[in-house]
Amino acid sequence: MHPQLQELHQDHVNLAKVLHLLEKQLADVKSGEHIDLEVLSEIVDYVQTYPDRVHHKREDIIFSIYAEHPASRLDLVGRLMEEHTLLSKKTHDLREHIEQWRHDSPVARERVVSIIADYLSMQWGHLNLEEDSVFGLLHQELMPADWERIETSMPLSADPLFANTVRQRFANLFSQLQRF
Ligand SMILES: [Fe+2]
Ligand SMILES: [Fe+2]
Repeated sequence: MHPQLQELHQDHVNLAKVLHLLEKQLADVKSGEHIDLEVLSEIVDYVQTYPDRVHHKREDIIFSIYAEHPASRLDLVGRLMEEHTLLSKKTHDLREHIEQWRHDSPVARERVVSIIADYLSMQWGHLNLEEDSVFGLLHQELMPADWERIETSMPLSADPLFANTVRQRFANLFSQLQRF
């Protein structure tokens, strides 16, 4: 598998860890435990900073070049690219809900559960569709010349939570993931 695809796959593995932590938060809320708005807010901050802004941009570049191939599955990549826009909006909306929950007393638990469950379902559906149906096609169809074009356009931003660089910004979230 091309290193660019391996990196995107690793991004999925990393995002899955964060989504599992969000699932744990959801389970806590369902069982009546304290809603940790700080952790929720850091999760959303991370998703906006890297998966929504960088990972999806990288995929859009690869999907667009794959879409030029005569036998490409335009239905699949078209849907995934639309979902990138929608996911970004959903993450933004979730951030706004969290801000609102900070001021609500008491917080309506059923509403928190339904919003987070809906968000998780969309994130998992998207990630699994890419892993199960599209990455294999990219691996088969994209030629060395395509990868050269892709590499020249790729954004270079590193993952601020999982890359071996500075983690101060997400230090708390990182330690939550280590304990989880
Ligand atoms: Fe994607
Ligand atoms: Fe992805």
